[in-house]
Amino acid sequence: MKEIINKLKEYKNQSGYTKWLMRYSLPYMPQIILMLVINVICSAISAELSIVSKNIIDSATDGNFVLRAIIIYLILTLVSLGLSAAISVISIVLDEKFSFGIRKNLYQKIIESTWGDIKKYHTGDMMTRMTTDAGNISNGIIYTIPNIIRLVIELFIMFGILYYYEPSLAIMSLVIAPIAAVICFVLGRKLKKLQVKVLESEAAYRSFLQESVSNLLIVKAFGNEESSINKLVDLREERFYWVRKKANMGIISSSTMSLSFQIAYIVAFTLGALKVAEGSITYGTMALFLTMVGRIQSPIIQLAENVPKIVSIIASTGRVMELQNIKKENYEKSDIKEENIGVSVNNLTFGYSEQETVLEDISLGIEPGEFVAIVGESGIGKTTLVRLMMSFLEGQKGDVTFFNKEGQTKLANAAARSFISYVPQGNTLFSGTIRENILMGNENASEAEIEEALKMAAAYEFVQELPKGADTVIGEKGYGISEGQAQRIAIARAIVKKAPFLILDEATSSLDAKTELEVLEGIKKLNPKPTCLLITHRKTVLDYCDREIKIEHKQIL
Ligand SMILES: Nc1ncnc2c1ncn2[C@@H]1O[C@H](COP(=O)(O)OP(=O)(O)OP(=O)(O)O)[C@@H](O)[C@H]1O
Ligand SMILES: [Mg+2]
Repeated sequence: MKEIINKLKEYKNQSGYTKWLMRYSLPYMPQIILMLVINVICSAISAELSIVSKNIIDSATDGNFVLRAIIIYLILTLVSLGLSAAISVISIVLDEKFSFGIRKNLYQKIIESTWGDIKKYHTGDMMTRMTTDAGNISNGIIYTIPNIIRLVIELFIMFGILYYYEPSLAIMSLVIAPIAAVICFVLGRKLKKLQVKVLESEAAYRSFLQESVSNLLIVKAFGNEESSINKLVDLREERFYWVRKKANMGIISSSTMSLSFQIAYIVAFTLGALKVAEGSITYGTMALFLTMVGRIQSPIIQLAENVPKIVSIIASTGRVMELQNIKKENYEKSDIKEENIGVSVNNLTFGYSEQETVLEDISLGIEPGEFVAIVGESGIGKTTLVRLMMSFLEGQKGDVTFFNKEGQTKLANAAARSFISYVPQGNTLFSGTIRENILMGNENASEAEIEEALKMAAAYEFVQELPKGADTVIGEKGYGISEGQAQRIAIARAIVKKAPFLILDEATSSLDAKTELEVLEGIKKLNPKPTCLLITHRKTVLDYCDREIKIEHKQIL
């Protein structure tokens, strides 16, 4: 019973995949159909060539030399070559467009999804889905599926022609079909499982590479060079194991197919030779038959060889759809006046998993213009509370509501971020210039506004002293400047946004007391004055705040 349900589920998934693929391919349909039509014309030409050559041979046997037929043969060959070149050009362009389309779509999906859901995937895994899987799908839609359709059409045309001249031979040439069908059916299922394993092991391999390269310092600091290389080798072996297993399966199927092909050919050949000896068919028909047997059997074999490719499309489609199906975050444009914003948290409960909560039924309020500190032990849930306010995470119970002095309210959702400036914990700078980093806070900021923000964040002086000032290029995660300097750039990025609600999550943790004070003074001087929420462990910061809110045992004290 369970098995039947699973089978049904699998079938439902697969029809879902097909629908998704169809919907996705729709915009590219005209070009795909054009390619298909050209392909079919090529097949028709190749069929016509066989008939022309039959006629040439038959006339030659009767002692006639037909120049006209030879010229037609030549022209058809040239046309066919031209069309093949056209297909190559169209398919390269189409493949590029199509795979980029999927990548862009996935990237957009990742960006628009709820942060808490998407963060469950490793970046290496997401990269694999955006590159390898997207490539597999594109390749499948542009090359494999049209090729399959062409093969089927070709099969019908060739069979039809041979049937017209010699029905018994035509039927003979099909003996290979049932064998191919059985092989495909048996191998298809196994192959899909193997293909998923190949992709998963690739994602693991890539995740490891990406992570260890970005944390090179730790690898070196702890002398993990050798073990890292060994781990990479292990991961590659794992991948190689699945790749080989899948390849073996492919080899078994294609060898069986070739063997059947050879046997079928010999049988058909013998039969044809007997008929020539009997005088019941002409040499031309025999020649036609020999060409046709190949042309009927080879599409059948090629169809069987396409099974792994189809499997690969299905497996990749499943992986891409998985990301596609992640819930889009709630974005409802706010219509409240974005000035003097306060927040009230009402009976909020949240846990990263259902088994364990981090915050339980907490309530708190921050009035517009207040300067409030959130304190509590490490790991108590301060950052989590901020993530809930920012709607990066969604609470299981309760809500977060923003309000202004006019009494308008707005339930927290992605759109509410427009009135929040946020300095996250840790180094969050991008590679590029300091200016580019600051402009991420507000892409329309003027030169004067950037300067002002840098001054308020106590970063102006050190940036001025850099050889290229704000145009100095920094590396990933602020490589090239100090941790405390990176923190100040991140604060400037938040200040330049000029939002009415400012959240700083241990944003001054790397600063010395004097510089920290300068930053806090700068924030106090901001005009218009934002509501400020600071997470901190430091006494000096607390002295600056109007009030402190303490989190303890999942509750607010
Ligand atoms: N993505 C996550 N999945 C599961 N648990 C998490 C996740 N992020 C944090 N936690 C857990 O939630 C709890 C609260 O973490 P949080 O980052 O909010 O602490 P914090 O108060 O900001 O600590 P710190 O002062 O060290 O920054 C911790 O016990 C932590 O282990
Ligand atoms: Mg924290």
